[in-house]
Amino acid sequence: MNLLEVEDLCVTFPTREGELLAVDHVGFQLKAGETLGIVGESGSGKSVTVSSLMGLLPTPPARVSGRARFAGTDLLSCPPATLRKIRGRKISMIFQDPMTSLNPYQRVVDQVAEPLRIHQKLSAAAARKRAVAALEAVGIPDAARRARCHPHEFSGGMRQRVMIAMAMITEPELLIADEPTTALDVTVQRQILDLIQTLQREHGTAVIFISHDLAVVAEVCRHLAVMRNGVMVEQGTTVDIMRNPKHPYTRGLLKCHPALHEAGERLQTLEEWMAAEEME
Ligand SMILES: Nc1ncnc2c1ncn2[C@@H]1O[C@H](COP(=O)(O)OP(=O)(O)OP(=O)(O)O)[C@@H](O)[C@H]1O
Ligand SMILES: [Mg+2]
Repeated sequence: MNLLEVEDLCVTFPTREGELLAVDHVGFQLKAGETLGIVGESGSGKSVTVSSLMGLLPTPPARVSGRARFAGTDLLSCPPATLRKIRGRKISMIFQDPMTSLNPYQRVVDQVAEPLRIHQKLSAAAARKRAVAALEAVGIPDAARRARCHPHEFSGGMRQRVMIAMAMITEPELLIADEPTTALDVTVQRQILDLIQTLQREHGTAVIFISHDLAVVAEVCRHLAVMRNGVMVEQGTTVDIMRNPKHPYTRGLLKCHPALHEAGERLQTLEEWMAAEEME
């Protein structure tokens, strides 16, 4: 059974030149615990796609239509209160720049604990304890002490870890990560990718991972969707798409990618991993 089923999703924005169809009849599915990467160049509609599902686009001016069933609830037509409950508890999001999503005036521990306070009505002390444990789990050294700091006292990579702790603390069924490593340097990017992968496997969380970097997405996700001009031009398993891209745009993405060789090597391990999984 699918955890998320998106059908015929359209998002339009009014512009001076007329309606802009930013998301054009998009459809995709995701099973529990599965990983889907959405890849495409800047402006192709990746963020608008997931923001519309989460009710994060201002409507108006945006117009959203279609269906998006998550565990039996249509995210696009359910009451706002239902969507608020799902968001943050069953579906969490992390974004490119943690600084814009963290409150500079609030201690890190209280921010990480907030979803628990809202969704699980835990006491302040119990929520803080869980928050410190969550910060430990994402690899923040000396978490009990650092939890009392404010976001500006953390490096970019550590702030992204804080965001991941906050996103995972309610043990969501789906994590949506929109370019979570783009603002980080390469070494830190690697660590954050590893962390997301580890958490995904340990908790069996489904993940939608958005990036303009095909190699990054191919490494983290078993399924891929390629977007261009608001259209999902190609979908399939990562292995199939890398090996036999059907759409010229995908072939272009693969061809012009400087890390293609490296991705090819990783493909080997991904295939081995899938083969091992299928034997189980
Ligand atoms: N609030 C808005 N009002 C008008 N147009 C918008 C709005 N938000 C996004 N768009 C337009 O929708 C299209 C898709 O944007 P989107 O942010 O989804 O791209 P993206 O694939 O996430 O790109 P990036 O890789 O740069 O994040 C773009 O043409 C963008 O200009
Ligand atoms: Mg985006």
